[in-house]
Amino acid sequence: MIGWTRNLALLLGASALSAGALAADKGSGAQIERGHRIALQICTACHVVAPGQEFSPLLRPPAPPFAEIANRPDSTRASLRHFVVTTHWDEKTLPLTMPNPQLMDPQIADVVAYILSLRTH
Ligand code: HEC
Repeated sequence: MIGWTRNLALLLGASALSAGALAADKGSGAQIERGHRIALQICTACHVVAPGQEFSPLLRPPAPPFAEIANRPDSTRASLRHFVVTTHWDEKTLPLTMPNPQLMDPQIADVVAYILSLRTH
């Protein structure tokens, strides 16, 4: 399920990618800071979004930590944005997939910039 979702997202995202978009765009400091706050507010129920976040994810097993997602070689701004915009749990099927986080466009850009800022290699 997870692999399938990701592959589809990559497939659909790939058509929109120019060579330039593939370069890691880490975003500005302010954008990353806004994304950090958004992640702490609405993504922590299911993901570890930062070291030392106040509450551990309630979801069992938790969704992949943001640091792990950031370090996947195939994670790009376009692929992450695409996932957040399109992958929406139907509220019935288990195990659940990612629900619609109901973010506005600039907030998606912020949170994606934050995730990519966690890339260490
Ligand atoms: C209700 C639980 C829940 C919340 C809240 C949640 N997620 Fe997720 N997320 C998941 C699950 C489950 C997966 C892994 C399964 C899947 O692929 O859908 C996932 C996977 C992801 C992935 C990785 C997709 C991949 O390539 O494997 C990203 C990126 C992501 N979430 C971003 C976010 C962001 C950003 C937020 C907050 C705005 C958020 N999530 C909030 C449950 C959640």
